[in-house]
Amino acid sequence: MKGAIFFSSKYGSTEQYANWIAEATGLPVFNVDVKKVDPSKFDFIILGSPIIYYKLYIRKWVKKNWLAIKNKPIIFFTVSGAAAGPKLEKWFANSLPEHMVSKMKYVALRGRQKPEELSWWDRRMLIIASMLNKDSQSSKEEFEGFDYMDKSSIKPILEMVSQLQKKSNEMV
Ligand SMILES: Cc1cc2nc3c(=O)[nH]c(=O)nc-3n(C[C@H](O)[C@H](O)[C@H](O)COP(=O)(O)O)c2cc1C
Repeated sequence: MKGAIFFSSKYGSTEQYANWIAEATGLPVFNVDVKKVDPSKFDFIILGSPIIYYKLYIRKWVKKNWLAIKNKPIIFFTVSGAAAGPKLEKWFANSLPEHMVSKMKYVALRGRQKPEELSWWDRRMLIIASMLNKDSQSSKEEFEGFDYMDKSSIKPILEMVSQLQKKSNEMV
């Protein structure tokens, strides 16, 4: 079974996770903002996207390519400041129509944010968000940044990939 990883990344942490998954699985990896690759030629798809301003950064690509991927197994990983939980699931669900969301296996990973790397606009927006945020921990993270990058957190994705490959070997 031939799979591929498609990702979008604003500041590099989703790219880092996509490359770790590629390294561990041997699957090809494509940055959808750099290269146009047809996803229809693969048997299963791994999609990776950060959450930026409460939305999936890759949502437009998913909608545009939905016909080509809708009948394949899809593993979707998000990279965010927030940890897995109802807040994150709501942002995920609000970014795409329900018939798309319900077809995907979802894994939440935590990323990195370095204030010195942000664009002028993003830095200002996050300072404002931090002042308005009632949750003291996430307010601090919005202001000071954070680094939750963890290579071992890709494990559930690697297990899903090996399940898919095992299933297809049994069918041969
Ligand atoms: C402008 C901006 C907006 C963000 N908005 C959110 C958000 O709404 N929720 C969240 O959990 N994390 C948010 N984050 C944190 C990012 O999801 C996190 O830094 C992620 O690692 C970025 O991935 P990337 O490096 O691949 O772009 C935001 C980060 C930036 C820079």
